[in-house]
Amino acid sequence: MAFRTSLRLARTARAVRPTVTVRSFSRTVVAASSLPNPDPAEDSRSAALVREHAPFMVATYSRPPPVFVRGEGSYLYDIDNRKYLDFTSGIAVNSLGHCDPEVTKLIAEQSATLVHASNLYYNPWTGALSKLLVEQTVASGGMHDASAAFICNSGSEANEAGLKFARKYARAVVDPSGAKHEIVSFRNAFHGRTMGSLSATPNPKYQAPFAPMVPGFRVGELNDISALSDLVTDRTASVIVEPIQGEGGVRAATDEFLLALAKRCREVGALLHYDEIQCGLSRTGQFWAHSHLPKEAHPDILTTAKALGNGVPIGATIVNARVADAIKVGDHGTTFGGNPLACRVAHHIVQRLADVKLQEGVRKKSDIFKAGFEELRKEFPEVVLETRGKGLILGLQLSEDPGNIVKAARERGLLVITAGTNTLRFVPSLVMSEEEIREGLAILREAIKATR
Ligand SMILES: Cc1ncc(COP(=O)(O)O)c(C=O)c1O
Repeated sequence: MAFRTSLRLARTARAVRPTVTVRSFSRTVVAASSLPNPDPAEDSRSAALVREHAPFMVATYSRPPPVFVRGEGSYLYDIDNRKYLDFTSGIAVNSLGHCDPEVTKLIAEQSATLVHASNLYYNPWTGALSKLLVEQTVASGGMHDASAAFICNSGSEANEAGLKFARKYARAVVDPSGAKHEIVSFRNAFHGRTMGSLSATPNPKYQAPFAPMVPGFRVGELNDISALSDLVTDRTASVIVEPIQGEGGVRAATDEFLLALAKRCREVGALLHYDEIQCGLSRTGQFWAHSHLPKEAHPDILTTAKALGNGVPIGATIVNARVADAIKVGDHGTTFGGNPLACRVAHHIVQRLADVKLQEGVRKKSDIFKAGFEELRKEFPEVVLETRGKGLILGLQLSEDPGNIVKAARERGLLVITAGTNTLRFVPSLVMSEEEIREGLAILREAIKATR
């Protein structure tokens, strides 16, 4: 808190007198000496750097004090060379760990060959990645009629394309009047921050400051099958749903719900859009979170991002032929999306993440986490209530704000993040070793204990 207050003061100081030195931090109150990684103090290099830079950064995030400069495998290192075991992997991004040597080599090679030439021209990698995504999706047992992909730069953009494609399909193929334009999403969903994807993210905290939202969006309750016939109607262009909600607190849609939802979509000619930006690409232990579902419950639109680039920004909207055929030249586009650098990296990553051995490992590691969580629930029943999730997208529901536990873990060398309401979220690299997982769970236990 003291850290944030002093940042605010620093920003105010810059606004008033841009050239004077900003005010110093208040003293951080920590029993620092007994902790392996106490948060950097006011006279640290981290604090000096933050004091210099933060006033120039639009304050869209509230960040803890360490400044990370290096990553290797499952660990991040801060400017003072403190080591942190990373249970967050950049919010489900670094699925192959930090600075994977093969990925690093490819980035170097491709950046010395061709980084960007624009979507006005062909290059070898945008098409190769699109082909691989389609073929691998079908081979994995997911989206059986996947046919083409649109490559962009982020999750929000992938969803934005999916929403636009759905409206175009509805107007061009089903109902030229434009009445069939509604998009349905679900409470606690997170689909992004652009105006379209935000309009499908029914969280007042994110939407209210930017109202009004795009017209034509409706909200339902996840897993409420009985409400589907009123929610999804002849006016619905598409329904967007995360098979496992990530930001919303690691909450899974049931198979029965997705089957009923898909059936209702077919009845009214609406498209089904699965957002697997966080839960896809083997995070659940299968290639897509929906891969085990029968074809009737497969989507018409499937979006991915995050782990697709292991940190290199990229996203993709995979569609079936019905949708692809409705999109014409000029309907949508992007300057950077599909550039050869990001696509070559993603082409390599998709092959690595599609490995069944890796997926088997994810399921095994998930069991280690779950067993550890069960022990925590037994030891701290007043605070640890429930475990949710699948594979390595896991949530631990607490009875209190996890802020103190997150800080106590960080000061003991473990990074964890939160989600939803009082949920600790675990989305580590998929190649984290079993030993590292056990090490992290032991730190987590210490952190919970220290906050009692
Ligand atoms: C399920 C889901 N969809 C969309 C997004 C937005 O992705 P991005 O932040 O890359 O725009 C996220 C990001 O957390 C997400 O988890």
